[in-house]
Amino acid sequence: MELIDNKYKIQGIPVEQLREQFGTPLYVYDAEHIRGQIRKFREGFSTVDLHIKYACKALTNINILKLMLREGLGLDTVSLPELRMGLHVGFKPQEIVFTPNAVDFSEIEEAVALGAKINIENLSNLERFGQKYGGSVPVCIRLNPHIAAQANSEKVDWWHKQSKFGISIDQVGDVKALEEKYNLHIDGIHIHSSSVIMSPEIFINGAKAVFDIALQFQNLDFIDFGGGIKVDVGDGNPVIDVVELGKQLDVVFSDFCQKYGRRLQLWFEPGRYLVGNAGTLLTTCVLRKRNGGSEFVGLNSGFNHLIRPMFYNAYHEIVNASNPTGSTETYTVVGNICEIDNFAVDRELHQVREGDLIAIRSAGAYGYSMASTYNSRYRPAEVLVINGEAKLIRQRDTYEDLLRNQVEIELD
Ligand SMILES: Cc1ncc(COP(=O)(O)O)c(C=O)c1O
Repeated sequence: MELIDNKYKIQGIPVEQLREQFGTPLYVYDAEHIRGQIRKFREGFSTVDLHIKYACKALTNINILKLMLREGLGLDTVSLPELRMGLHVGFKPQEIVFTPNAVDFSEIEEAVALGAKINIENLSNLERFGQKYGGSVPVCIRLNPHIAAQANSEKVDWWHKQSKFGISIDQVGDVKALEEKYNLHIDGIHIHSSSVIMSPEIFINGAKAVFDIALQFQNLDFIDFGGGIKVDVGDGNPVIDVVELGKQLDVVFSDFCQKYGRRLQLWFEPGRYLVGNAGTLLTTCVLRKRNGGSEFVGLNSGFNHLIRPMFYNAYHEIVNASNPTGSTETYTVVGNICEIDNFAVDRELHQVREGDLIAIRSAGAYGYSMASTYNSRYRPAEVLVINGEAKLIRQRDTYEDLLRNQVEIELD
């Protein structure tokens, strides 16, 4: 979304026009932005055998998946329905990675039957995998190297310390024992930081730790560095420069490959990097009110549509698209859920009146995909702007949707 001639536009289409056509609240995604991020990512890692697996949990609309397929990406999935959606839009099963965490082994069996690439993150399922498949199906191992990533939220940082993900590097010996016992074919090593990475240094340190471990496994085809690459959301925090990261990684990776005896593939699973800044949540200010000394802007949305500000204390830039250049005031921007429901506290915005179109930026990743119908409110519609045209890619929920799976019984 860009401000051109005093109007916020997406690929030349004024967002006001999108409101008229589709109503609000509305998620809008810019396909050109996604394509640009893919180009940048490829440019950053142009010296390695790069395989990008889009982490589709970030935004699961099948049209976004299709776009990724067209752009030549693979897919990272964490559940069987995500895997099925990938197959549905035409990804080859071997291009889809299945990286669940706490799941019953039967899910892994189903993913193997569907032909996906399996990534295992705990010793229990690795043992079962060995018992069932031996070395007949290759398996990737997700490790937890206990490297602290950076985050702008204490909660995320706390989570990192508690991280449940991956097999601890302290247990590599156990992995080796299982490899030997079942003649496992371990073809990949995976890490994902589970919080955002902002500097190449942090990343390179993690990478070196992984390379050291990878030297203990003789049959690898790839190293998978997961996702977690931050984009600039306007919060003033540093963002990683993928070109710089690519250059630094190339040095340590080449060194590793030389020691390893051959060049491996490098996999990444970006979610937010590809779609985060491609998405905007368009809302309408339905209420202006003063309370307890604060000026409130009430939106026809809430944390049921975009949970990140309340859940992670995540920063989202907010603009008044109806008054992009007027004088500014300080507001608390709230949603309509029956609990504390802040999008932003004490935020400077161009003066807001009831009826104004308020755009919440950087809402492409973990926006719609984490939305709910809490308070029995409908989830928004979704629109993809592609090749200069705005296309509806998901209908707004309806009352019937809220009732669809409920079973009404006789109470006496
Ligand atoms: C295994 C794995 N890969 C990739 C991702 C995508 O992360 P991001 O959207 O931060 O790039 C996640 C996010 O949770 C993940 O768990």
